[in-house]
Amino acid sequence: MGRNRSGHIIPTYVIFPLLLLLFSPVHGLTSYDPESLDALIHKHAMKAQAKKRSGTSLNVSLPANFSGIEVSVVRLRSGHFWERGVNFSSFYIPPRVLPFPFVKRLSIVYQNLGNWSTRYYKVPDYSLVAPVVGFVAYDASNLSALGNEALRFSIRGDPILISFPNLEIKGKLETLKCVKLGPDGFVQFRNITKENTCITQGDGHFSLAVQNPEVEKNIRVWKWYVVGFGAGFFALILSGVIGYTTFKLVRSKKLRGMEAESENGVALHATSVGRSKMPSASMVRTQPTLEQDYVP
Ligand SMILES: *[C@@H]1O[C@H](CO)[C@@H](O)[C@H](O)[C@H]1NC(C)=O
Ligand SMILES: *[C@@H]1O[C@H](CO)[C@@H](O)[C@H](O)[C@H]1NC(C)=O
Ligand SMILES: *[C@@H]1O[C@H](CO)[C@@H](O)[C@H](O)[C@H]1NC(C)=O
Ligand SMILES: *[C@@H]1O[C@H](CO)[C@@H](O)[C@H](O)[C@H]1NC(C)=O
Ligand SMILES: *[C@@H]1O[C@H](CO)[C@@H](O)[C@H](O)[C@H]1NC(C)=O
Ligand SMILES: *[C@@H]1O[C@H](CO)[C@@H](O)[C@H](O)[C@H]1NC(C)=O
Repeated sequence: MGRNRSGHIIPTYVIFPLLLLLFSPVHGLTSYDPESLDALIHKHAMKAQAKKRSGTSLNVSLPANFSGIEVSVVRLRSGHFWERGVNFSSFYIPPRVLPFPFVKRLSIVYQNLGNWSTRYYKVPDYSLVAPVVGFVAYDASNLSALGNEALRFSIRGDPILISFPNLEIKGKLETLKCVKLGPDGFVQFRNITKENTCITQGDGHFSLAVQNPEVEKNIRVWKWYVVGFGAGFFALILSGVIGYTTFKLVRSKKLRGMEAESENGVALHATSVGRSKMPSASMVRTQPTLEQDYVP
């Protein structure tokens, strides 16, 4: 009885997790979460700013294992910001832009993810062709601490410009798009205005993307077909093997049972209750047939 059971149940328990393991997507151990990166950048920008109080832009150093990501911060009086705007790295914020809620001073934290861009941000069916750059403004009225909440902008004049100079873009140029990127796969497409320049009305993360060629898309679809077919085929073979093994087991049990019956020459009904070999889950299905055969 025990043998029969173990032969029946254990493989299902072993095989099912194995199947899950085989076909679940494989994730790396490090997760690249844009929100936690922004939190880290905020923390280090605050530290850097506490050391230096002047209004000029300063570089923020991140932990060594993030090398390749550039961060800088600039601290401004809101009045000055309104009158002159600010022009740093790839961003141009024109005059007549107000932070809200209103603060006396603000710090603008700028990031360029460089070679880390595609780890943190992806656009389905598109390839990023420029590094992801971003800016966020915080309340900097308190000299020793940046506000935690990102400020928003109220634009009364021209919009904010983001330029990506010196890019060599491969791919279909007519599909070149500005993308605004966010956490959890947020993507918003904007048309590019002039030479590699994007327009925005607010803060965020931006890059340029070109649509992948159809061929590549088709190959990807094909890959999934092949994987799906392989999985299906494997499952089919597996269920075949399990079914066959079960059938063999049941049949050999049944034969052994029948041999025992004929040796004893006693009616099946009586022995099937008395003999410990016979009762098992897999026998339930076969017993009625036996009864019909033997009991007229
Ligand atoms: C800040 O970093 C950029 C790029 O790494 C560099 O070109 C620039 O000289 C740095 N500025 C200062 C003030 O250290
Ligand atoms: C960098 O190291 C810190 C610990 O020092 C770790 O928490 C973080 O995940 C690491 N980041 C990357 C991208 O390796
Ligand atoms: C980016 O480049 C720097 C060196 O410039 C390297 O240390 C770092 O590992 C690179 N990061 C990634 C994600 O490739
Ligand atoms: C911003 O500064 C760059 C050089 O630092 C300059 O080429 C560009 O024209 C400036 N943009 C505006 C709108 O002033
Ligand atoms: C500025 O921030 C520091 C550190 O968080 C805090 O101790 C201090 O009270 C704040 N000052 C003002 C005027 O809010
Ligand atoms: C972008 O350009 C395409 C074609 O030039 C046009 O069909 C589309 O409406 C534009 N989208 C926006 C948001 O301007």
